[in-house]
Amino acid sequence: MSLSHLATTTKPSATAGDNPLRRLKSVQPRVHGSKRVSYSYTTCQQKQNKDGLTEDHVVDRRNVLLGLGGMCSATATMGSQGMSALGAPLAVPDLSKCHLASDGETKINCCPPYPTANIIDFQPSGHEPMRVRKPAHLLTPFEVERFEAAITAMKNLKPDDPWSYMQQATIHCTYCNGAFDQAGTKTLLQIHGSWFFLPWHRYYLYFWERILGKLINDDTFAIPYWNWDTPQGMKMPKMYTNEKSTLYDGTRDKNHLSAVLDYKYAYNDPNPVGPEVDQVMMANMCQIDRMFKESKHHPALFMGKPLRAGQPVPTNASGSCENLHNMMHQWVGPPVSPYYNMGNFYTAARDTIFFGHHGNVDRMWDLYNKFRGGKPEFKDHDWLESEFVFYDENRQVVKVKVKDSLTPEQLRFSYQTQKLPWTDIGRKCKKVKAAKKRSAGGDVLKLSPVSEFGSQTRNVDTEIIRAIVKRPKISRTKNQKEDASEVLFIRGVDVPGGAAARFDVYVTKPIEGFVAPDLGELAGSFVKIPHGHHLSHHTEHKASLELGITRLLEDIEAEDSETLVVTIVPRHGKATIEGIDIELFDHDDDD
Ligand code: C2O
Repeated sequence: MSLSHLATTTKPSATAGDNPLRRLKSVQPRVHGSKRVSYSYTTCQQKQNKDGLTEDHVVDRRNVLLGLGGMCSATATMGSQGMSALGAPLAVPDLSKCHLASDGETKINCCPPYPTANIIDFQPSGHEPMRVRKPAHLLTPFEVERFEAAITAMKNLKPDDPWSYMQQATIHCTYCNGAFDQAGTKTLLQIHGSWFFLPWHRYYLYFWERILGKLINDDTFAIPYWNWDTPQGMKMPKMYTNEKSTLYDGTRDKNHLSAVLDYKYAYNDPNPVGPEVDQVMMANMCQIDRMFKESKHHPALFMGKPLRAGQPVPTNASGSCENLHNMMHQWVGPPVSPYYNMGNFYTAARDTIFFGHHGNVDRMWDLYNKFRGGKPEFKDHDWLESEFVFYDENRQVVKVKVKDSLTPEQLRFSYQTQKLPWTDIGRKCKKVKAAKKRSAGGDVLKLSPVSEFGSQTRNVDTEIIRAIVKRPKISRTKNQKEDASEVLFIRGVDVPGGAAARFDVYVTKPIEGFVAPDLGELAGSFVKIPHGHHLSHHTEHKASLELGITRLLEDIEAEDSETLVVTIVPRHGKATIEGIDIELFDHDDDD
């Protein structure tokens, strides 16, 4: 299905049910010149960590499924269909073993008020009326009032009620700041930064919406979403900025209450003004368009990379959707440290705009799924069978599985059809770029030499890094491109001390080994929300930032170039990187 049809077409609902167990097949024969790229975890050895804890690694899959034992995995392969390692789905944590979570120095109690609950399996109901989510900026005054009434009712519940506003907000902290270990392990439960990001948040919003509906006695109640991918939606929706409303949050960046949202925002950037406003909106849409097209055959680029039970959480196995979403957190939250409410995971869901933001994040997944013709993003058992636990609208603790969340329709909600102004924007984006290049025509005279990245770890803090990088194969045919994506790897990204950071990655063509001042095309960004927890120093592993560049290279007419110049532009905070390279990545059989 083409992107331009997304706005108008509904699709047959897909289920992963077809064959969820079809996996763990052996590594596929490689497309010529391409390879599967693995990233390794080192948990497979008995390992003494800094605190003297020994991580035991029992490798019986059934134990892990039952939550009885730890597990290990030597190597996980992105895309995971050719996985050669052991794996297991995430199991629900032992609710009685909740400990204080932390954000760096701050200790926080994010334990849910149901340590001994009887957990039942979630049953999605196929017969309920559909809840149709609408863009926040298009809600009628009556709909805004209804939403406010529901939020007020939630805020009026007793603080220890699992439905109460703060308890609901705390769930976000529970799952991301180390309140629980994964069952039977010393490994933190963390649902950000991997392929769990989208399904977990889908369920989180799902129950929040149903509880709100219940509180106002309306089983068709649907939450609004912040439609930040359309020009009218590229600012904070009005309903959240009315100081008298219960939807208001006084901690937000005052500078942004009526500013235009810039996807390239890094803390303290000035707001776009005058003619910049249109340029920024246009650039935002170009970025969304690219995000979809670049990842079309390679879901891990969009969704995030695999994470299996017992594996330490990589610092950044996030997909492009999550990286983009991080930026909005930073843009809404306070612009200086300490970052809190929207600016920090443990507090993010205290601001009601969080749920509007995530409504659109979830809608992006829905659009992506339809763009791909409704195919499940991963057929991997370890993804489909992974479980989370939530408090439902009947005051019951339920265990949900990723496989029951693959489409909104399965969960009886949907997104009202909207025009997608970015779907056919590619050509326009190219034109704008070309005009910019022409006006900088004299730059060609200012060529400078550029060398390889080398083997040293380098700091991304004050200076721009430029490196020439070899490509595995040039001038690929259409078919070859359908078989494998070209992926740019920024290796070993690390951010000291769980701080906030951002850098942007640009790609251009060298001119006989030299490079012009123009950075080229934005391939993607690394955006990190500040985040620390008690075990972070030994459970987070460096991983690569992976950016699809197949389409980008067509756009900049670099298909025949043997090398590319990659430019890393530090935007905020400090990071280190260990290398840059380009690989070809095989797609699944049916992708
Ligand atoms: Cu759970 Cu927007 O983060």
